[in-house]
Amino acid sequence: MHMKITAQKGDNGRYDLLVMGMFEQEVEHIKKIDEKLNGEIAAAIKKKEFTGETGQLKSISTLGKLPAEKILVIGLGKKTDYTKENIRRAAGAAIRVALSLNARKCTTLLHEAECESTTESERIAAVVEGSVLGLYRFNQYKTDKKEQEKQVDELVIPTNNSEANEAIHKAETVCTSTLHVRDMVNTPANIATPRYLADEALKLKKLGVKVKVYEKDELQKMGFNAFLAVAQGSAQPPVFVVMEYGSGKDVYACIGKGITFDSGGLNIKPTTGMEDMKMDKAGAATVIALMETVARLKLSVHLICAFPACENMLSGTSYKPGDIITSYNKKNIEMMNTDAEGRMVLSDALSFIEKQYAPKAMIDLATLTGACVVALGYWATGLMTTDDGLFEQLRDAGKETGERVWRLPLWDEYKDILRSENADVRSVGRSYDAGTIAGAIFLKNFVEKTPWVHLDIAGTAWMPENKYYYTKGATGTGVRLLVNWLEKKVKD
Ligand code: BES
Ligand code: ZN
Ligand code: ZN
Repeated sequence: MHMKITAQKGDNGRYDLLVMGMFEQEVEHIKKIDEKLNGEIAAAIKKKEFTGETGQLKSISTLGKLPAEKILVIGLGKKTDYTKENIRRAAGAAIRVALSLNARKCTTLLHEAECESTTESERIAAVVEGSVLGLYRFNQYKTDKKEQEKQVDELVIPTNNSEANEAIHKAETVCTSTLHVRDMVNTPANIATPRYLADEALKLKKLGVKVKVYEKDELQKMGFNAFLAVAQGSAQPPVFVVMEYGSGKDVYACIGKGITFDSGGLNIKPTTGMEDMKMDKAGAATVIALMETVARLKLSVHLICAFPACENMLSGTSYKPGDIITSYNKKNIEMMNTDAEGRMVLSDALSFIEKQYAPKAMIDLATLTGACVVALGYWATGLMTTDDGLFEQLRDAGKETGERVWRLPLWDEYKDILRSENADVRSVGRSYDAGTIAGAIFLKNFVEKTPWVHLDIAGTAWMPENKYYYTKGATGTGVRLLVNWLEKKVKD
């Protein structure tokens, strides 16, 4: 299953596949190789079969004339538009071609073409990211092993760069954890229960992470009533998990929504697509994997990652629209739609983490609203905050990693949406207008003074089809974004 990635000085060995890129109309640097291929690439260009447009693929058999059996040329688009994200995407597309060809031993030149103001190490990292993420498959439950038999065993990156191995190792670490998110999120609700997520968190103890699992009776005593209200309709016991790594006075906290299945509750969801609601634990899976990465890289930060995990189900014990529930921070919530369960479970978690750890910044990740998918689709995470500095930091981290965020406003005028007749706050508005913002406005009631960011990953945590280095299903979004953000907090 595991692909070995190595940096290699000099040109040696035989490969099943050599991957190279070509900019639009820039035939010059492929000429040397093309000559050995009897000008096949030039001919394809002439016929307009291949122009170098972004994403175009052309594979050519070398008939033994080169140390690789096949060559894959990838269109890189216009040189002036070329970015690190293009490298990741090209590498992702290439590795999938390699997989389909069962090319076991591959080599790539995609790190060579310069772009933006990147160093070669950064470009090597991008190649590794695209390759590792693009190779992912969720097939452990297929007993017919035919597909599994196709593999890429080795990817060789030719370079004289002495920092290459470090760049490879780091990118591999972050991406392996990203794939861990994909596995957790793709695993269905009958297997990936709240307990399962707690066990995944407990595994991090061997990396030096402190892990505390709060069970139902303890949560009752603590007053986690908004969380427990959601959990009360399910046969699966809820858990609230807090992980801690590192030390120091500046604490950063990340909190993930961990609904292992969102049926909608009494406000039940429609049949179509309900099976995808196993993905409603993506926030929790992301913070587990973030903790894993930070511990593996031994980043010198003090990090808290926490998640409430439960199912949102229908039964005689379910919470009901109209219920008034007193949260951990003693606000009375008029709960008006059982399908808006994410904000309920997060509210107690946010207040608790703020009170216990007084973090310097607190970020929550949640597949919170369908409205966010309507607004932004799959290519931007919805970001809401009142802290401009944190917005800028995350926007920059998003640009660097390709996990882009897009800010939506939290102006005071939006507060009216959640004014309640009978309690302190309604859990949802009277209409679906500004649904994503309404979710954030609700959460804001549970954060007193900590600089806080809400990330709505409803559209970015899940891809409807294979695209670039994303694979159908869970994406693992958030890990690379937040590792990048945290790295800049490291004091050296
Ligand atoms: N988990 C859903 C949001 C969601 C929808 C995530 C689609 C990913 C894809 C969330 O719990 C939910 O159901 N939200 C409601 C809120 C509404 C009742 C205000 C929604 O979006 O309809
Ligand atoms: Zn819901
Ligand atoms: Zn949900």
